[in-house]
Amino acid sequence: MTKIAVLKETAAGETRVAASPETVKKFIGLGAEVAVEKGAGENASVSDADYKEAGASVGAKAAALKGADIILGVQGPDPKALKGMAKGAWIVAGLDPFGQRKRVDAYAKLGVEALAMEFMPRITRAQSMDILSSQSNLSGYKAVIECASTYGKAFPMMMTAAGRIDAARCFVMGVGVAGLQAIATARRLGAQVSATDVRPETAEQIESLGAKPVFDDDLASDGEGGYAKELTKEQQAKQAELVTSHISKQDIVITTALIPGRPAPKLISDAQIKSMKAGSVIFDLAVAQGGNVAGSKPDELVVKHGVKIIGFSNTPAHLAADASALFSRNLYNFLSAYWDKDADKPVLPDDDEVTIGIRLTKDGKVVNERLTEK
Ligand code: NAI
Repeated sequence: MTKIAVLKETAAGETRVAASPETVKKFIGLGAEVAVEKGAGENASVSDADYKEAGASVGAKAAALKGADIILGVQGPDPKALKGMAKGAWIVAGLDPFGQRKRVDAYAKLGVEALAMEFMPRITRAQSMDILSSQSNLSGYKAVIECASTYGKAFPMMMTAAGRIDAARCFVMGVGVAGLQAIATARRLGAQVSATDVRPETAEQIESLGAKPVFDDDLASDGEGGYAKELTKEQQAKQAELVTSHISKQDIVITTALIPGRPAPKLISDAQIKSMKAGSVIFDLAVAQGGNVAGSKPDELVVKHGVKIIGFSNTPAHLAADASALFSRNLYNFLSAYWDKDADKPVLPDDDEVTIGIRLTKDGKVVNERLTEK
């Protein structure tokens, strides 16, 4: 019988958990045994009793790990804490392969098979396994809610007996999964929304959500697999012009721009912040990846020229219950799709696109091309 261990997260500020009572039940339905480390779900409003009721055993870390074939995590567990698992056990988590390269090497040394869920290829059949999408969607929502609560004014236009309040103007930069949800959320709150991206196809998506696209034809920069490429120097200058002409009229700015494997592109300069009205709010969703906004700091409120700049190092952790539920389903959708009934465990074919994408280590070696290519 395959044993699945669910560990309590140890990274600072991590509130999520990699299995929910719902997915525990489903794994048991597949024929697996699930062992949860005591307290694993407490920061995501899931009690040990909830896990027990779903059919898991709950105990100390060592007991959960003993003989485990698969270890589930939100973030990668500390290699030093991994003892007693079955030979060649899988670690299935968000492993931050570029940021935590040394840890990947340590997993290889341990002989475990590390599977990085953020490397899931962007193909239709893997959409339900994509942790970046599920977590970014919630992050886009949370960014708007945080802005609304930090902003000293209301979002919707209001006609009151004492006079009119104007709607907030909200500008979303970067219209991937998080940006689209930010647009939708800001619209629901009644803001006037505009948005920009370097992938031209997003213009239509922006319009379909009732927001105004802010685009320049020279800024098209589609990369591989639905991702953006880094802009050239000339394009960066052109984008700066476009942003400068637009941003001074905005009350709320949400930046979400990322380029895989690179630091986040700088989108807003100090001079542009200075051009904004005092009391405006900027949420930098890329703050943990180097930041899109000059001067933004993870988990700190920075006030520059009267503009408030915010951003979390781990935004989905601020919506722990929903983020955990979706993350857990992503892991279940992945493992169940590869579950081999005869083998009584999941089996990853070596030539499968998903395997090639997410497998970092196997048989004592780092095997992922994105990490081994120079
Ligand atoms: P992301 O998190 O990598 O980046 C966020 C956004 O920033 C992207 O839209 C990107 O184009 C934009 N950006 C990058 N540099 C910029 C710049 N200098 N200025 C303005 N914007 C900039 O992207 P995310 O959210 O992961 O989505 C990228 C695409 O992948 C989307 O089209 C999404 O629909 C697609 N996708 C497909 C999936 C699948 O088929 N399984 C799963 C998830 C996303």
